[in-house]
Amino acid sequence: MVLEVEVLATAEEVARRAAGVVLEELAAGRLGALGVATGSSPARVYEELAAAGARWEGVEVFALDEYVGLPPGHPESYAAVVDRQVRAPLGLAPRRVHVPDGAAAKLDAACADYERALAERGGVDVQLLGIGATGHIGFNEPGSSFASRTRVVELADRTVADNARFFDRPEDVPRRALTQGVATIGTARRHVLLAQGAAKAAAVRAALEGELSTDCPASALRTFDDVLVLLDPAAASLLDQRTTGRPRPVPA
Ligand code: F6R
Repeated sequence: MVLEVEVLATAEEVARRAAGVVLEELAAGRLGALGVATGSSPARVYEELAAAGARWEGVEVFALDEYVGLPPGHPESYAAVVDRQVRAPLGLAPRRVHVPDGAAAKLDAACADYERALAERGGVDVQLLGIGATGHIGFNEPGSSFASRTRVVELADRTVADNARFFDRPEDVPRRALTQGVATIGTARRHVLLAQGAAKAAAVRAALEGELSTDCPASALRTFDDVLVLLDPAAASLLDQRTTGRPRPVPA
């Protein structure tokens, strides 16, 4: 089990470092499947990947989660976001991109289908992750079992509020989602978690230094095999020196 924490000078460096890990696996012929998160944290990583001019033809992409209740094609559905930010820039065929079907009539069946698609592909090689202020990974909110698999979940009020920035009106933010479970996420061969900004500092501390507990689903990272946590100084600001290998910054 290896968990490394790196504090980089800027959010741009965090993105470059994360992209470097993905490109290294691709160049070594070890990237059969890339796991992607949506939201702000990895957006620059995808720009870096697209700018690298690599060949992505053989790679499958799996999203972590999808809202329930948005009409298909809604610009903020994660299917649309992954299409815009990952599939099109990397020049991938649509059939290589997998997102749980949040518009399915039978949501439980859609979750089982997603687990099956992941298993058939042999799991994800590199999983990019963000972290929610609630300590979620994917949409596994506090209380999510470390043994959980892909399923329908209720979003925490804080998550709904945080994601309102992507929607015209707060009441438009879906309150349910399909998400890979904590255990599903744990099946990836390598994990790269990115966090930028002071709003993530408490969740990052809980994940890395708090109890191993479903109160902070991201603490499950410490049970995964190969994890790299990339932080900017603000996201790392509450961490102990023993975690980061560097002194805590003195607040201005
Ligand atoms: C999104 C996802 C979430 C986000 C998290 C952080 O697919 O799974 O766990 O990674 O909510 O979101 P941002 O990066 O927008 O702060």
